[in-house]
Amino acid sequence: MVENKAYRSIFSPCSTQEQAANFDSYWIFSQRHAGELLEEDKDLTNKREKLNYFQNNPIRSRNPLPNPELFYRNHVKFKDDPQSIDRKTLLLTTIYKFARHEWVGISGAWDIIPSMAEAKTLTDKISRVHLAEEFCHVRFFHEMLKTFHLNKVEWLPLGPVKQKIYKIFPRLPGFLMDTPAFVTELMGMTFYQHLDKLFEEVFADEPEARQRLREILHEIMIDEMAHVGQRRNFIGPNGVRAAKLMLAPLYRAFFRDIPEAKYLFDIEKMIQDGLAFDYSSVSPSLLARSWVPSYCQV
Ligand SMILES: [Fe+2]
Ligand SMILES: [Fe+2]
Repeated sequence: MVENKAYRSIFSPCSTQEQAANFDSYWIFSQRHAGELLEEDKDLTNKREKLNYFQNNPIRSRNPLPNPELFYRNHVKFKDDPQSIDRKTLLLTTIYKFARHEWVGISGAWDIIPSMAEAKTLTDKISRVHLAEEFCHVRFFHEMLKTFHLNKVEWLPLGPVKQKIYKIFPRLPGFLMDTPAFVTELMGMTFYQHLDKLFEEVFADEPEARQRLREILHEIMIDEMAHVGQRRNFIGPNGVRAAKLMLAPLYRAFFRDIPEAKYLFDIEKMIQDGLAFDYSSVSPSLLARSWVPSYCQV
């Protein structure tokens, strides 16, 4: 077993020289980790290989959901009383809603930010690959849902207002966009950590399917913990201060839109974990495949 190293808070200060050096080291990591960008397909070679592995070696739950129609009726908007619905279905609708937000956000941004050929700076290139990774996550989530025999899932746009917000967001200048972009990555990471724990309990009677869900989730988390550090690296002391203030309201607002989440997740604990995040809560085997900013390492 690998000893867990000591880490510093994700909100630790850093100099502009450290920021530049960390962008360099992230870019080296990112190319090795994600593989080649397949821009036409919004895909990356190493991620595609992973997805192919999951698809070619499918695992399906022993039992279908108690009533799959409940998933389809509530996955976009919850129409029934969440308290009357089994925890497996609630967990899967939460996953769908979370991933759908991600999908809408990245679809809006993909058409706006520079393509790899147009990228002028290192951070342009980093952002392009980052977005392609997020598209891979949506494909991974799709595979998670298929593990529970949910084969008819479609990724639907959000309502016009939210759709518009997601389109405006990537056009904002860095000083406005970088802090919420960092906080949303951190929210993703803390959500996945809570999700990982919940799989144990909710899918206790589905050991093979649960194992597969965790395998897929861990692929996503390795990227996500690197994204947290990478987006942290975009902000300076003012951004760090703003991020701490913004974190709780942003998490609460996001999960207000997923009404079933509160029956499964402790949102306030997720907020505390976000504020306390320092990588020591992540398993060393996942960390070994990911990337951590130098100023968050002791
Ligand atoms: Fe993601
Ligand atoms: Fe991410």
